[in-house]
Amino acid sequence: MQPMTELEGDRLRRYYRTFARVEAADTSPVYAEWAQGVAKDDAIIYLLLDLPQPKRQANLLFAAARHLGAETGSFARLRTWLLAHWDETSALMLERSTQTNEAGRCAVLLPELARLEGPLSLIEVGSSAGLCLYPDRYSYHYRATEAGESSDRGTVLSDPHSVRLISIDPTQGRSNVVIECELRNASAPERIPEVVWRAGIDLDPIDITEPDQRSWLRSLIWPEHDERRERLTGAAEIVADDPPRLVSGDLCERIESLIAEAPSDSQIVVFHSAVLAYVDAPRREEFAAVMRAHPETMWLSNEGAGVLPGTRVQLEACGVDADGRFVLSVDGVAKALTGPHGQSYEGLSGS
Ligand SMILES: C[S@@+](CC[C@H](N)C(=O)[O-])C[C@H]1O[C@@H](n2cnc3c(N)ncnc32)[C@H](O)[C@@H]1O
Repeated sequence: MQPMTELEGDRLRRYYRTFARVEAADTSPVYAEWAQGVAKDDAIIYLLLDLPQPKRQANLLFAAARHLGAETGSFARLRTWLLAHWDETSALMLERSTQTNEAGRCAVLLPELARLEGPLSLIEVGSSAGLCLYPDRYSYHYRATEAGESSDRGTVLSDPHSVRLISIDPTQGRSNVVIECELRNASAPERIPEVVWRAGIDLDPIDITEPDQRSWLRSLIWPEHDERRERLTGAAEIVADDPPRLVSGDLCERIESLIAEAPSDSQIVVFHSAVLAYVDAPRREEFAAVMRAHPETMWLSNEGAGVLPGTRVQLEACGVDADGRFVLSVDGVAKALTGPHGQSYEGLSGS
C-alpha cells in the first residue's frame, strides 16, 4: 500500500472499531462482531479503500451483504462470503445509500403536531420513502412517567416511578402499526391531528410500492431489531396503499416551492429527522435560514445533538447531556431529547 492509503486504512480501521464499540455494542452483537472483524482484516479494509469515502460505512457494507444473501453469523463466515461476492456487494454499495426510514419517529413528532390547530400540511425533508409523513395513520402507546397529578386540592406529587399508559388511535380506528414511546417530563398528546396534504423531498426518494426498494429498507434494519422490522412491514403496507408525493432533489433547493404549493388554509409543518447529519455545515445553516424566513410555518427538527445549528449551545446552557439521544427542536429551540428511533421523549425543563 502507498503511505496515503496506509493512513486512510488506519482511519478506516479506527472508524470500524468505534462503530463496534459506540454504535453496535449495546444493540447489535452481530454488527459489533462484524465491525471488530473488519477493523482487523487487511483484505476487507483494502477492498473498502477502493470505494469512495462515503461508501465505506459499516451500515452500508453490512446492509448490502445481507441484502444479497449473507447470513448473520460469525465474522469468519461474513468474510468468506464477502470475498466470494465482492463485485456484487461493492456495486450495490455504490448504487444505494443508508436511507433507513423509521416510522417510530412519528411518536416524538406527535406531541408537537397535536398542539396545533389543524388541518395540517406536512412537508418532510430527507423523507426516504415517506413513512414519517403518516403520523395520522399509526396508533401510539405512550408510557408516561408522572411528575405530578392534578386534583381538586392542587397538584399532588406522585411516586416518581408511577407510569400512566396512554393509547391514541387514528380517527378511523386502531392501526396495524402501534408505536410505543416512553414519555418523561411532558404531556401526552391527546389527539391525532388531521393531515390534509403531505409531500417529501429526498435526494433519492424510495418508492415504497417497489418490492426491491422495500426489501432494501428491511436490509438496513440491524439483524436483532425484529420489532423495527415488523413496524417497517406494517408502515410500508399503509403507505403503499396511498403513496406520498416525493420530489427528488436537495432540501435547500426544493423546500421553497413545496411550501408555496401547500394549501394556504392549512397549518404548514416542515420537519426532518436523521437528515442534517448528511448535510455539510454551511448547507445546514442555509436551510435553517430558509426556515427562519418562514415564521408562519412550524419547523420541527429531530436530529443528533449539535447537528442543528445552535442546539449544542442550548443544551449546554441547560446543563443537559443528550447521551446519544436526538434533540427535538421547534422553530430552532430545543424542546426535548428523543430516542433515535422514536422510542422515548423527554421534555427539557423550562422549554
Ligand atoms: C437516515 S434517512 C432518514 C429518513 C427519515 N427522515 C426518517 O426519519 O426515517 C436520511 C434521508 O435523508 C436524505 N438526504 C440526505 N441529504 C439530503 C439532502 N441534502 N437533501 C434531501 N435529502 C437528503 C437521504 O437520501 C435519506 O433518505
